[in-house]
Amino acid sequence: MSKHEIALEVNGRPVSATVDPNMSLLELLRTEAGGLEVKLGCGEGVCGTCTVLLDGEPVNSCLTFAVQVDGRAVTTVRGLAAEGELHPLQEAFLTHAGSQCGFCTPGMLLTAKWYLDRHPRADREELRSALSGNFCRCTGYTKILDAIEAYRDARQEVSVVD
Ligand code: FES
Ligand code: FES
Repeated sequence: MSKHEIALEVNGRPVSATVDPNMSLLELLRTEAGGLEVKLGCGEGVCGTCTVLLDGEPVNSCLTFAVQVDGRAVTTVRGLAAEGELHPLQEAFLTHAGSQCGFCTPGMLLTAKWYLDRHPRADREELRSALSGNFCRCTGYTKILDAIEAYRDARQEVSVVD
């Protein structure tokens, strides 16, 4: 099987690798790029646990081939925390106990951030629908949605003050 040279950015950092054509982005991130924060759930594009942003759009990294991301930019949950400071959405998950075992949390955070950036006034049902591709196996979605709504409200207050 012929290998391919690829180069991409992961959280703003250049990464290059030699990959098999059937290697997934998830495998690339968890091996060559050191992105262990990206989790493997179903491996079949169903659970959303492996969600990352590819050029700013959410994708299931388990269903994305590494060769497809040549020349592109990937953001994992680690990219949300600028210079080691938790992002306010991550803080809201902490405050509202939105992370239970934490396994689904990276995908939840990235999907929620992406959606609220485009729909800053989304209501709870819209948020629930936006997260329908991200499964949580723990105690349900109430605390997750509470956290996301708290973040949504806090950033609206900030923009009103601005
Ligand atoms: S691990 Fe990728 S969608 Fe489940
Ligand atoms: S917090 Fe455990 S799977 Fe969601």
